[in-house]
Amino acid sequence: MPRTDLPPGPREPTAIQTLRFLTRPVPFLESCRRRYGGPFTIRLAGNVPFVVLTDPEHVKEFFAVAPDVLHPGEGGKVLGPIMGRHSVLLLDEDAHMEQRKLMLPAFHGEKMAALTGLLEEVTERAIASWPRDEEVALHPRLQAVTLEVILRAVFGFDEGARLDQMRTLLERYLIEGVHPAVMLPPLHWDLGPRSPWGRFSRTRAETLALLGREVAERRASGGESDDVLSMFLAAEHSDGSPMRDEEIVDELMTLLVAGHETTASSLSFACADLVRNPGVYDRLTAAIDAGEDEYLDATITEALRRRPVLPFSQPRLAVKPVEVGGRRYEPGVALTAGIYLIQHDPSIYPEPYAFRPERWLDQRPGTYTWLPFGGGRRRCLGASFAQLEMKVVLRELLRQTTLSSSAPPERTARRHITVTPERGARVTLRARAREREAVPA
Ligand code: HEM
Repeated sequence: MPRTDLPPGPREPTAIQTLRFLTRPVPFLESCRRRYGGPFTIRLAGNVPFVVLTDPEHVKEFFAVAPDVLHPGEGGKVLGPIMGRHSVLLLDEDAHMEQRKLMLPAFHGEKMAALTGLLEEVTERAIASWPRDEEVALHPRLQAVTLEVILRAVFGFDEGARLDQMRTLLERYLIEGVHPAVMLPPLHWDLGPRSPWGRFSRTRAETLALLGREVAERRASGGESDDVLSMFLAAEHSDGSPMRDEEIVDELMTLLVAGHETTASSLSFACADLVRNPGVYDRLTAAIDAGEDEYLDATITEALRRRPVLPFSQPRLAVKPVEVGGRRYEPGVALTAGIYLIQHDPSIYPEPYAFRPERWLDQRPGTYTWLPFGGGRRRCLGASFAQLEMKVVLRELLRQTTLSSSAPPERTARRHITVTPERGARVTLRARAREREAVPA
């Protein structure tokens, strides 16, 4: 007989658990595991109880549960105003699968390969413009790169006035969209253009109008290119009908929100860890100079293990009774994979807090032990895209510059939907070209 009680968890009031989770999510989750082992239950304000799974075998069962039993989309409803009601992230069951199937071809390997040149162009130019010989925070600069990549490679904007207008709008959108008054539906009061919801509603309307115009024009012109929008324009529903403009706009906004902050934060952590691990740094620079990818790929895999920017998967709300890991859960509880905790389990990863790309030179990431992109039928659609982008950015950064920092490691802090280095990954960049010129031939 399976157990039917909820796993244990902190007894502190919900407000305290919420505060600890919002301010220092990683120490909070680690203290829960130390105290309760796994799985454990946490309670966050305005949410149903979350059960965090920490055993890869339980996660395997969890990812395989039928789509009519666990609903991840329902748990993400707070993101509705930012992503739009057609968003793949917010749908469940058949509607989710239909949308996901429409989007998948845009992220296939050969499509990603075709975008490499564009990613390199955007990255090279951005890094060349970053200040040298003074301490800078990399995170905002990396955010600008990942935003530009989405504008050019996903939305398909060419350089020009419209790209500039869209960039300005999206920068506003991303700041205004994470205001608590936007994330919490009861606070959706339009108290005029200066109120948070009022301001966001206007920015949203302007953004969607501009994006809608771009989609309609691209559809009318019939021109094909390598960007994700082109793939959406060519996609067909199972009944043969094309994706509608409003569906395309919502999915593009979903890719922006899901892909921008996550990739920028992952890259910030990778840089922050690299400067504090000189052995890894030197080996990576040598590999990049020699044009070899194996160590670069291993470094990215390790960065995503050591610093998963989403510490757990999208919570899936039980809408029917479900059994996972020998326990039966009733409707009204959400289950989630404890990505961070599994990736720091010493029985899976010896010395889990060490940053050691070497782990991955003779080992492939396991489906239920390496989880930065979640898993099952909700696994991140942009996983290959993100890894390609991280590769292009790290390679270019270490080609153009030498990174250094004498500061102690930065703590992890929450920033919007992800965790990031608290001070934005502060480093000093020095030009490498000059160093090379200084060396006699
Ligand atoms: C390093 C960067 C990234 C990380 C760590 C990341 C992580 C994740 C995670 C953990 C999920 C939830 C999976 C689950 O609950 O099982 C997810 C979903 C998703 N991600 Fe990413 N992501 C990244 C970049 C991207 C990029 C670049 C894009 C698109 C351009 C993207 C698009 C999506 C979409 C559309 C979903 C929803 C999939 C669905 O519900 O079917 N992500 N991501």
